[in-house]
Amino acid sequence: YEVNDVAMSWVKDNCLSFFQLFCIKVVKTGRVPQHIAFIMDGNRRYAKKNSVDTSAGHYKGFDKLSETLKWCLDLGVPEATVYAFSIENFKRNKDEVNALMDLARDKFQRLLEEIDQINEWGVRVHVAGRLSLLPKDLQALVSKAMLVTRNNNKLRLNIAYAYTGRDEISRAASHIVDGVKNNEISPEDIDDELVSQTLELGEAELLVRTSGEVRLSDFMLWQVSNTVLYFTEVLWPEFTIWNLLAAIIHFQRNAPPPKMKSSVSDKAQLFLDNLENHRHQQLEKYVNC
Ligand code: FPP
Ligand code: MG
Repeated sequence: YEVNDVAMSWVKDNCLSFFQLFCIKVVKTGRVPQHIAFIMDGNRRYAKKNSVDTSAGHYKGFDKLSETLKWCLDLGVPEATVYAFSIENFKRNKDEVNALMDLARDKFQRLLEEIDQINEWGVRVHVAGRLSLLPKDLQALVSKAMLVTRNNNKLRLNIAYAYTGRDEISRAASHIVDGVKNNEISPEDIDDELVSQTLELGEAELLVRTSGEVRLSDFMLWQVSNTVLYFTEVLWPEFTIWNLLAAIIHFQRNAPPPKMKSSVSDKAQLFLDNLENHRHQQLEKYVNC
């Protein structure tokens, strides 16, 4: 029983030791990745190893996520993206899928209850994926969470849910086709910057996958073209601040020079603004359903 579990479920203030805080300071003297992506893998192996049921492994995985968010805040990492549920995961057995949906219900409900603390931390939550595949009540919950945190700007947490990279790219392609059909953009406006900005997720500078698997599993395929990849054997629920610092040091040794920000034409920007409005309206629709 930990007092913090009751007080706060999304950002876990787990009191790092003096030595750990010192190491964070040292690592921060170097370049800190501005966007870290995590493939949180190994929850079921952790559950098996500790003789608990699968869903307990996933709950442990969520606790680790909330610890990791605090570490990102301490390190000054402004954006993190986590792979929480892939479209492929719908093929797992019914009990596990239901347990994962219940976990999400539970945690997004908690987020809404803890909104004052979330706002104090400055965490903005964005759920990226095919929300139409989710149960109606969960659609409403995640949409609410996105709307009520949208003005926070210390840490943007993207949760890939009912997500695959290929599906995200397909949806972007279909938005672009609509834009051309409606005369918002011309075919000449389509370039890699426009595609990048039409996608829900931005480029990551560092990608971490736990549990010894060395695949991308259809995660952020477009966004990892220049990303430093870090694979570690540790199972996600056992991930520690030391593993995160090791990943960042690996990034500092291997990072390409930072990319110049590019922009799109005024016309294309208008298309992107419309798309943003359209997405916002969709969220309000989900909330009111
Ligand atoms: C992969 O481990 C993990 C998942 C499929 C679920 C990850 C979800 C969380 C950590 C909770 C996040 C929830 C919210 C609401 C943000 P695995 O099941 O593939 O384990 P294995 O590789 O050992 O079989
Ligand atoms: Mg796995």
